[in-house]
Amino acid sequence: MNDSLFSKVVYQIYPKSFKDSNGDGFGDLSGILEKLPYLKKLGVDILWLNPIYVSPQNDNGYDIADYRAIDPRFGTMGDFEELARQAKAMGMGIMLDMVLNHTSTEHEWFQKALAGDKRYQAYYYIRDPKADGSLPTNWQSKFGGPAWQPFGDTGKYYMNLYDKTQADLDWHNPEVRKELYDVVNFWREKGASGFRFDVINVIGKDELLVDSVNDQQEKSLYTDTPIVHDYLQELNQNSFGQDPNIVTVGEMSSTTIENCILYTRPDRHELSMTFSFHHLKVDYKDGDKWQNQAMDFAELKRILNDWQVGMDQGGGCNAVFWNNHDQPRALTRFTNDGSYRVESAKMLAQTIHMMKGVPYIYMGEEIGMTDPGFTSMDQYKDIESINAYQMLLERGLSEAEALEVIQVKSRDNSRTPIQWNDQAYAGFSTSQPWLEVASNYPEINVEKELAQGTIFPYYQELIRLRKELPIIQEGSYQPLLVDHPQVLAYKRQLGDQELLVFNNFYDQATTVSLENTNYNYLLGNYGEREASNQLELRPYETIAFLSR
Ligand code: GLC
Repeated sequence: MNDSLFSKVVYQIYPKSFKDSNGDGFGDLSGILEKLPYLKKLGVDILWLNPIYVSPQNDNGYDIADYRAIDPRFGTMGDFEELARQAKAMGMGIMLDMVLNHTSTEHEWFQKALAGDKRYQAYYYIRDPKADGSLPTNWQSKFGGPAWQPFGDTGKYYMNLYDKTQADLDWHNPEVRKELYDVVNFWREKGASGFRFDVINVIGKDELLVDSVNDQQEKSLYTDTPIVHDYLQELNQNSFGQDPNIVTVGEMSSTTIENCILYTRPDRHELSMTFSFHHLKVDYKDGDKWQNQAMDFAELKRILNDWQVGMDQGGGCNAVFWNNHDQPRALTRFTNDGSYRVESAKMLAQTIHMMKGVPYIYMGEEIGMTDPGFTSMDQYKDIESINAYQMLLERGLSEAEALEVIQVKSRDNSRTPIQWNDQAYAGFSTSQPWLEVASNYPEINVEKELAQGTIFPYYQELIRLRKELPIIQEGSYQPLLVDHPQVLAYKRQLGDQELLVFNNFYDQATTVSLENTNYNYLLGNYGEREASNQLELRPYETIAFLSR
């Protein structure tokens, strides 16, 4: 088997919602262990687990209170070691989520800081108010409200770019960096073979914290600053870089192609690959997540094409994906999850899996899971959704209008439990899950998919092809039909070989012209097709052809 980075496929598990083994309504590590054969059958190489450490769970584990202990809700350290061992025996690695930009305010470091310990106060951004008594800067938290909270009753404030219980760590302090490298090394020893670094491009805030003049400029004060590259090189050198087999991915907020090339070019010794999110903002009205609009398909194409070409030419590596635990499901969002659910699921998968980079499958994608379509705010648990709902009411929207926005944009859309079968709670748990199961589980579930579905086998085939065909791993990327209003198409090329991929993103048939028809059918969601000069694409059709 080919072992290059570009041959790999990652599967993301949101542990809270994957499989509950002890009936408390909360997914756990033993549940994942039980399902390893299922993941092996799919053919993935790496399992990324969202945070499993001790946490008050205000932001579902991204608020870590102890970096070195498993949250009892997920199991024990022994469970983790066993999972890593068994996964390895089956040829799969575990990728752990490292949240190194901030800790929970319940973390010992923050608690010691609050109790007056100067050493730990220097771990965070703790600042006096301005002379006029206003907050140290005018920055906004990404989850709503100001980015500063009162630091106990000291009269000072601590920085929180995310929830107010997530305090930003000061990476300028070498002691902080050393602590964090030790955390990564701790998990390497426990058997982790990959790491996903949460919002890692915001760790390099400017040393002088100053007011921003607008939202865009505000981000530049703490995002993708040159020092992030220095910190990543240091992190690499002092931890995972010591093992060439470790795979890493950085989650990059509001980033650029230029920076992602620098983060991932092998000679830079920073990270293996990066996530970027511009292609998932094409349904934000005027850049505002909390205003719905239909996707701007031309923009989606432009962004995906630019990133494919740019990263390829710059020698970087993209993580390619549609879904994760922060995004509504692309199947519901960008395509048709009703009458064309199966066609759409395969088309979305093929679009990504034949691109250059490392494909990520978010749990449930392989069976065509959809957004749950919750009808009441009580069903939502995510802090961001709850805050956004309040903000929308304050903006003057009615409750029904605000709910409509949350229904489309909530992160809980993808966090619902995996639908394993048509039994109570979809076989996820024996008791009421922490977040409701989508009501379509009697029709859409793993058991049924494995018995008679065609989406899971399609993913197996895409993974198999990636491993078998160097052109999928290595080939250059060239956008085709750039002005076509319905079709995203591209050509991959390696030596004399060419791979053409056509994807119709709409429920209307359309025709594309092919000058050269010297191609063999490789894979599609409507069965075998011939390459013809006037190629008709049916609703949500995807077809790949390989040159003869
Ligand atoms: C990342 C995570 C998200 C979390 C945030 C703060 O964006 O994916 O779930 O809320 O970081 O840690």
